[in-house]
Amino acid sequence: MIKTTILDASTDNIIYCADLLKNGEVVAMPTETVYGLAANIFNDKAVSKIFEIKGRPQDNPLICHISNISMLDELTIDLHSEIFQKLIEKFWPGPLTVIVPRNKKVSNLITANLDTVAIRFPSHVVSRKLIEACGFPLAAPSANLSGKPSPTSANHVFYDLNGRIKAILDGGICEVGLESTIVKIEDDSLRVLRPGIISVDMLKEVTENIVLDDSVLNQIDPNSTVISPGTKYKHYSPNADIVLVDSSLDDFRTYVSDKLEENVWCAVFDGEQKCFDKNVLTFGYNEKDQAHNIFMVLRKFDELGASKVFFRCPKKENIGLAVYNRLLRAAAFNLVVL
Ligand code: TXA
Ligand code: MG
Repeated sequence: MIKTTILDASTDNIIYCADLLKNGEVVAMPTETVYGLAANIFNDKAVSKIFEIKGRPQDNPLICHISNISMLDELTIDLHSEIFQKLIEKFWPGPLTVIVPRNKKVSNLITANLDTVAIRFPSHVVSRKLIEACGFPLAAPSANLSGKPSPTSANHVFYDLNGRIKAILDGGICEVGLESTIVKIEDDSLRVLRPGIISVDMLKEVTENIVLDDSVLNQIDPNSTVISPGTKYKHYSPNADIVLVDSSLDDFRTYVSDKLEENVWCAVFDGEQKCFDKNVLTFGYNEKDQAHNIFMVLRKFDELGASKVFFRCPKKENIGLAVYNRLLRAAAFNLVVL
């Protein structure tokens, strides 16, 4: 078993982690969205460790993280499309991943044999310094065990990956708390494959032509071919069964009140907890808070030993759409509409 150490993000530790990455190791790094499990994109042996450590299916491609625009050359042949340029100008560095035609230098292991590649320029200063110190882009999926909620603190990563990796760079609690928005450039339109805190309304400032991919709100047949392979897998699941309840607070209270017992809990918005005399957690007041807290709260239910959790349904617009998308998956699409 490997000894796993949480390291503060000092310059020395960043250089130490860059050396590990140069030597083909993997390292967990903070980003503004969630923690990532990073490896050198040009070292297939290192990248294959990511899949092994996470237990990730090989047909689920990885995002390439860069720390300056000049790194794009090696990744894509689509440098000059107008829409890509506008996205870069408006949203990078930041929580937006863009899918563009790949450069052949990017291996099939990263892209899962697709002819596109996912690219992100994180804004978190620690990930930027780490990539800069490496001098090559880093492939990094969320640093959780496959199927578990994404990690938003170094301790979450430790909980999932202790004994499997050498180092976790500690960059504090992730500011956003939800993974990046993923868009695919299709001619002059944008297809949203995963909503995030960069909302559809914000993207509309770049183009009016925005398509919400079917997988954002619908369950995808695992045997089908999909645009974003990650969407067909079970996701964000704590040990408890999650039920998402779309209703007013009054109806929610009536529905769950006789169900809350030893290991059965509910999750409501801040301020609503006084309506319940036991087994209740809150996950935020507005959609931005909810995005920040949701994965933390899902993990908290594991700590509490919850076997079932009824969740209040967030708003489905703007950032709320992203929270709703994650909760639908955490609930394996078990949605009750009252
Ligand atoms: O915020 C984030 O995006 C975090 C941090 C660490 O950067 N990363 C992250 O990675 O969430 P991951 O692997 O957990 O999710 C990436 C998603 C997967 O659903 C994958 O299928 C999709 O991006 N993806 C990657 N490359 C793709 C491509 N070429 N075409 C379509 N989907 C792609
Ligand atoms: Mg993930």
